[in-house]
Amino acid sequence: MKLWGGRFEKSTDKSVDDFNSSIRFDCRMYKQDILGSIAHAKMLGKCKIISEEDSLLIQNTLREILKDIEEGHVDFEIDAEDIHMNVEKILISRIGDVGKRLHTGRSRNDQVALDIRMYLRDEVIEIKKILAELERTLIEIAKKNIDTILPGYTHLQRAQPITFAHHMMAYFQMFKRDIERLDDCYVRINIMPLGSGALASTTYPLDRYMVAEELGFDGITENSLDAVSDRDFAIELSACLSILMMHLSRFSEEIILWSSHEFGFIELDDAYSTGSSIMPQKKNPDVAELVRGKAGRVYGDLMALLSVMKSLPLAYNKDMQEDKEAIFDAVDTVKMCVPVFTKMIKTMKVKKENMFRAAQGGFTNATDIADYLVKKGIPFRNAHEIIGKMVLYCIENNKAIDELDMSEFKSFSELIAEDVYEEISLSKCVSGRNLPGGPAKESVMASIENGLKFLSKL
Ligand code: ARG
Repeated sequence: MKLWGGRFEKSTDKSVDDFNSSIRFDCRMYKQDILGSIAHAKMLGKCKIISEEDSLLIQNTLREILKDIEEGHVDFEIDAEDIHMNVEKILISRIGDVGKRLHTGRSRNDQVALDIRMYLRDEVIEIKKILAELERTLIEIAKKNIDTILPGYTHLQRAQPITFAHHMMAYFQMFKRDIERLDDCYVRINIMPLGSGALASTTYPLDRYMVAEELGFDGITENSLDAVSDRDFAIELSACLSILMMHLSRFSEEIILWSSHEFGFIELDDAYSTGSSIMPQKKNPDVAELVRGKAGRVYGDLMALLSVMKSLPLAYNKDMQEDKEAIFDAVDTVKMCVPVFTKMIKTMKVKKENMFRAAQGGFTNATDIADYLVKKGIPFRNAHEIIGKMVLYCIENNKAIDELDMSEFKSFSELIAEDVYEEISLSKCVSGRNLPGGPAKESVMASIENGLKFLSKL
């Protein structure tokens, strides 16, 4: 019989049991469910709502059940619907009527809210750890490439020279904000909802603060209706994860471009690439492509959650059972993508010469020669026009700017002198941009220092 079977005269149709049941996917919260129940039982005993003896028996039996589940001795039942009722049923099967006292002053509505919050806060911590590893890897690569010059792009057209370290540290900043967003989201996840009951709290004198303390929460929810119907913490987390995946997807896209013959900036390690079943020459960046693809999947999870919650009247509605697969999928996907991505970039070969060669083409020092004229007194707009003509001349004559001879230079401006060659060399273009946030060695070093400080505080 169902734990709620009292007012029913017929049993549930088998198809409805299957349809209603969430045990297939909420069983992964068994630990949170049991730890939550242990804290609830302890509090019920302490507040004399049940006897101390019953409380202890319940707590100990729950611990045994936890151990049995972990050792693989427990089979969950579809018709016990979800993890909450499965655990309670097992408890009752072991200690009879005493077990039936556990659910005093509690509803599955506040129980499920508790379990998801406990589950997600652990996942946030886990995701932060793998992101920190990615960040350390970026710093490692940056340190090795402080002087590796490559073109920076806008519109995917070569724009100005930067360093590979600077490029890596750009991603460092994005993932740093992702970590900070997760921290922020954690604050709203880590609030304890038990005591909200089904929707209107309870008449039992529960000590909610004690339960919060026992379970490591930072506070308790302030409105029972809100507490059982709020899933914004899960939506917020999937939004954070979507942004993170968007960053990873941009990075993946660059890895894919860079590993092409057209760019030739990096070579992925054999262990992180795949071949073609027909074209023997191929070495494909499948890992990066899959990560890029999975970003779409995580966005889908966010949309699913937003759509499930849209228009739901207060308080709990069964629609909300649909929250779990989406948020679990988002979390699982991120946890799969980040570590393999990290290993992929850790092992990639950086082809410094190709990067440098690319920076030599495409007139990436054109801004610098315009600036050279500005320093000699010409207004920037005029300098821009002069250099525009010079670039046109170079294109027509198939030359780079620094391949022009003095007489060619002078034909554009009398102010150009011998020192121009030094001034527009790629290394000068980079080293001159030494403002905070710029690509020059000392600026990137400072940013690495800050990054290491940030990571050491995690
Ligand atoms: N399995 C349910 C869920 O995930 C637990 C809450 C059920 N509450 C209810 N009133 N039917 O949402």
